Amino acid sequence: MNTHTPPRFDPTRVAHLQGSFAPVTEEVEAADLEVTGVLPDALDGLYLRNGPNPRFTPIGSFLYPIDGDGMLHGIWLSEGRARYRNRFVRTPALLAEERAGRALWGGLESMITPDADQVGPELAGTFRDLPDVNVVRHGGRLLALAESDCPFRMGTGLETLGKEDFGGALPAGITAHPKIDPVTGEMVVFCYGLEPPHLTWSVIDRDGAVTRGPTPVDGVDEPMMIHDMALTARYAVLVLAPVFFDLGAAMAGGSFLAWRPERGTRVALIPRDGGPLRWASDEAFWMWHTVNAYDEGPGADAPVVLDYVQWSRLTVGGGSEDTADPVTGGLVRARIDPVAGSMARTMLDDTRVEFPRIDDRRIGSRHRHVALATDTGRTDLLPGEYDAVRWYDTETGTSQVWSAGNLSVGEPVFAPEPGRDTDGSGSGAGGTGSDEHGYWLTFATDRTDGSSWFLVIPAEDPTSGPVARARIPVRVPLGLHGCWLPTV
Ligand SMILES: [Fe+2]
Repeated sequence: MNTHTPPRFDPTRVAHLQGSFAPVTEEVEAADLEVTGVLPDALDGLYLRNGPNPRFTPIGSFLYPIDGDGMLHGIWLSEGRARYRNRFVRTPALLAEERAGRALWGGLESMITPDADQVGPELAGTFRDLPDVNVVRHGGRLLALAESDCPFRMGTGLETLGKEDFGGALPAGITAHPKIDPVTGEMVVFCYGLEPPHLTWSVIDRDGAVTRGPTPVDGVDEPMMIHDMALTARYAVLVLAPVFFDLGAAMAGGSFLAWRPERGTRVALIPRDGGPLRWASDEAFWMWHTVNAYDEGPGADAPVVLDYVQWSRLTVGGGSEDTADPVTGGLVRARIDPVAGSMARTMLDDTRVEFPRIDDRRIGSRHRHVALATDTGRTDLLPGEYDAVRWYDTETGTSQVWSAGNLSVGEPVFAPEPGRDTDGSGSGAGGTGSDEHGYWLTFATDRTDGSSWFLVIPAEDPTSGPVARARIPVRVPLGLHGCWLPTV
């Protein structure tokens, strides 16, 4: 076994392996879930969510939210009834560990990898796949997504079909946060890497064919971590916060991620038509997730509006809060001037929030409503744990909150009511509309007894809380990102 000075590690002391985050090992399914309230007949489809869920007790290290095997949790809705199924994303490493009956790979920071005697020559010395971040459906593929690596293709029953490199066209993989243009059907992706080129972008058309292979982003000469992206009609938008990979520090037992605020944060506006890059820069901030972006006008020099969740610096793992320099954040709007190369940032709402989502049919055009996970100020929540859902209205500048009480909630995902328009007027960059018609979906787990629920919250009156709660007969650990896949 290859052991690069592994740090002392006690998984029972890792917050994100306890409580509502504790992984589950059973794969189950349950039909006709018990429902409190009424599941809307209009919702016909599948709600899916991915998240880190180590199959075996981790060894070496565990870094939330990156480490862990992927597990998909699905709720199938039809005719007012719900059924549930969960399945691991079965990577080659997970299959090898199931044969061994224990963890063979350490967490990323431990750099522990198994040797050929344990896993055979093909897997020996490799890093494990981590398709545990997100799940999307595009171009006929259902994909469990990893952080800048090849995703895994999943079947309709959540069985693992294999690693997806898009016919060999994207061998290095893609981001966990691709963006699908609701107008063209294209999926735009990026990929960062330790080796040059350190950052590329690509395009996959609505039928799943790669129409632009990995295209280097000029001006990125070092390996940097970039978690999410945004899309406008004109640009792919990448935020390059000063988080650099430091393999030397990792080999010495330290963190492989270095925060270098003196380098500032840059935004790359990448013309989707292949034109020259445009850059803007500002003082350093960190961003896990974009909300949305759009072009402010039709001209090539028109500013770009980017809404995102900002943090004052990088936080991973959640165990190193510096009380002298607490991390602050909130929902921010940046107006990016591609001509001046500058950006003006405005804090819209300084409440602690994460997991922002909009009606995905508004991606790339002006949006009005933003849903986010937030907290009510309780002090007994773990980093990354939220007990409320917040809706921000970009038109009025106001927020509404539904407090979930003893429930810890996850990312809210919008399920539009079939046949109704989006939350905008449908007129692209010019419209904001009035209401949105549909439901916000999420999983929730009760901190007092570990019971888990699937929640359906009406978009037109969200603070009234769920119109339906489906009881899931097993615990669903808090996770990361998901999607609503209407039956087509
Ligand atoms: Fe994410």
